[in-house]
Amino acid sequence: MQREQLINHSISIIRSNQHPRGGYIASPLFPPYAYSWLRDGTFIANAMDRVGQTESAALFYKWVAGVLANKRSRVDILLQKHANKEWIDRSEFLGTRYHLDGRDDVSEWGHFQLDGYGAWLWGLTEHIKITGNRALLKELRESIEITVDYLMTFWHYPNFDCWEEFPDYVHPATLACVYGGLKALGELEQRSELLEKASMVKDFILRHCVYEGRFVKSVHCINEIWKPALTGVDASLLWLALPFGVCEVNDPVMLKTVEHIESELKHEGIQRYVDDRYYGGGEWLLLTAWYGWYQKELGNHQEAQRCLEWIMSKADELGRLPEQVPDQLREPSAYTEWLAKCGEPALPLLWSHAMFLVLSDSLD
Ligand code: BGC
Repeated sequence: MQREQLINHSISIIRSNQHPRGGYIASPLFPPYAYSWLRDGTFIANAMDRVGQTESAALFYKWVAGVLANKRSRVDILLQKHANKEWIDRSEFLGTRYHLDGRDDVSEWGHFQLDGYGAWLWGLTEHIKITGNRALLKELRESIEITVDYLMTFWHYPNFDCWEEFPDYVHPATLACVYGGLKALGELEQRSELLEKASMVKDFILRHCVYEGRFVKSVHCINEIWKPALTGVDASLLWLALPFGVCEVNDPVMLKTVEHIESELKHEGIQRYVDDRYYGGGEWLLLTAWYGWYQKELGNHQEAQRCLEWIMSKADELGRLPEQVPDQLREPSAYTEWLAKCGEPALPLLWSHAMFLVLSDSLD
């Protein structure tokens, strides 16, 4: 499939899978993904903004605000418990994914994930910068402040990572989303308390999440000392540079992190992390797009173009992109187990289409 054709398909797949109220379903044909995630949704909305589909993005940001608007009392209780140093169970925190009609997901699946909330603030701010629609700040104020209070207080709490795993640790990629959200809004509205918190989050990442000169997947606190918990890399560490800017693309720590991503997780596409067992740990299209985007920003146009072509080669005849492909499995038996449990990996995955659009746009 040609690039222009896949761009059009991607936009139309995203549009036609956006609920009239604004949520984007993660994947319409993979039942476990019949929700709208704040994380996927924000990156999808941001891709739509980049390709000029700003009404779609606006609808998503407004939908999230609608979902969060009635969470004030819940967040106030959490803040009170935090102030009183009371134990808070993970299930009490805000959810990570919502039904498309806005209801909370009350399934057993892990909920406490901060990355989507940080990403949402960042994406909304980007949207306002792109469209100039500052009136949105007023319109969505209640939900923006609920999110700000929530992140400012709980940013350092252990929570599920962006792959919905390892809830006992703190993850630099999650912190990058929190940093990105607070910094972007802080700059837009010139709010010093947000900028100070963002800089505290950045300092935390640089002080506690670097091991042997590169970033690690996760850290934890033992006897009041922060230490690496998972010392390997995770491809989501690319988010520290793009789009959140915790460090520059050519920062030595980032460069070393990417060297490790290349030696541990790169074949033709990019895998999530070494011990990944989900569908055997295949190559993820959205991460390959992220890596290509990073290479483009570093000045390696050719490698970025190769990533784009690899992603395009994975589209099916209807122009649909999957979440991952089982070309280079880390654990083939786990692929078979997941196949028996849930069927083929998600196809189409809206987030894959979104990141294809972002990479393609960066190459223009
Ligand atoms: C991924 C999440 C994603 C969800 C929906 C999960 O398998 O780990 O990052 O939000 O799928 O796409």
